[in-house]
Amino acid sequence: MLSAILLFCASCAAMASAKPHRVKQRFSTLKDATEQQPQGLASVNMSYAPAVHLLGNQHAQRFLTALIETVKGDWDDAVTGRGGYKPSNGFCDTCFSMSGTVKLNLVVWALIKTLSVPGDFAETGTWRGGTAIVARATQRVLGEDRRRRTYVCDSFEGLPTATTSEDSEKWNKMNALRVSVDQVADNFEAFGLLDGGVRIVRGYFRYSLPILRRRLIEHKRHLAVLRGDGDMYESYLDILYNLYELIPVGGIFICDDCTLIREAQRAITEFRTRHGITDRVHITGIGMLREGDHTYGLTWWKKTKPVSVDYTWYEKWNATRSLERGLIPATKIYGFHESRTLALQAAARRAAMAVLPQ
Ligand SMILES: C[S@@+](CC[C@H](N)C(=O)[O-])C[C@H]1O[C@@H](n2cnc3c(N)ncnc32)[C@H](O)[C@@H]1O
Repeated sequence: MLSAILLFCASCAAMASAKPHRVKQRFSTLKDATEQQPQGLASVNMSYAPAVHLLGNQHAQRFLTALIETVKGDWDDAVTGRGGYKPSNGFCDTCFSMSGTVKLNLVVWALIKTLSVPGDFAETGTWRGGTAIVARATQRVLGEDRRRRTYVCDSFEGLPTATTSEDSEKWNKMNALRVSVDQVADNFEAFGLLDGGVRIVRGYFRYSLPILRRRLIEHKRHLAVLRGDGDMYESYLDILYNLYELIPVGGIFICDDCTLIREAQRAITEFRTRHGITDRVHITGIGMLREGDHTYGLTWWKKTKPVSVDYTWYEKWNATRSLERGLIPATKIYGFHESRTLALQAAARRAAMAVLPQ
């Protein structure tokens, strides 16, 4: 690892003479991101190699490569404004996911690497569903879609108002993060991936994830890969306290927001410290460090030891939280037929919009 960092530093130094200001900014981001990791346990992987190449089957490779490109849409151009591209909604008109190539490939990689680990895939914080769509497609090409599920968890109405003083209110104001549940079901359907193994879990995590946790325990299900993408401190505590224990040893936890959002990083670090988790943290794809990768990077670790989650602490902490302001979205786990109905509703709405005069 040391040699990898030295190599990286050497290439930074070589670039420094050409673009000193930019390189300084980039290096400080790497340093910052590395230092934020608990107990300095970070290893940095700058590899851009598409994980789909790990699949032996060429058709599967082509399919997943095309799917990732489609799901990603114009994300890179949208965040950089490259080519004068200005998304009308502030995010990206054409994207099904705000995860770029590196993050989407990491999902594929994680699912391949946990083939010997029992359990499903869960994305907590899904926006338009694209990352979970890539996960479901990967389960399918691996022939694992009958025994593994994909859980798609979100309020489908954006982020809550802060219920503790740890988070700011800015998240709740981001209207571009409100994507309706029927829209997400419709997106799965559009890719032909809304099948009986997809479970849409609706509601603020504080309410929906305890229900999901109970359901998974009751049905003896596990999570081989858990992907957190909840932006806020409180969202990450809800995710970890409810679902971390369900990851078997060998399973993978991904924190989409670590290295970028300090509140998310703090939640993760606190959780690890409280539970004595020392599994090595990997940083993958640090966006601003790499030309053309605007995914900002994430962290993940593989669970090497069973962890007994201090749920009593969580319940006590929960009791100190205030109530969310505004309407609280309904909490529900949709079965297959209900999800299909949602997708049909979205399709009907689209059809109605198409015939309305502009
Ligand atoms: C950054 S977006 C997710 C992006 C998505 N993972 C992707 O790759 O495109 C964050 C999502 O998390 C959801 N979210 C965050 N905190 C939540 C909470 N406490 N309860 C329910 N949904 C939450 C938001 O509604 C939003 O859709």
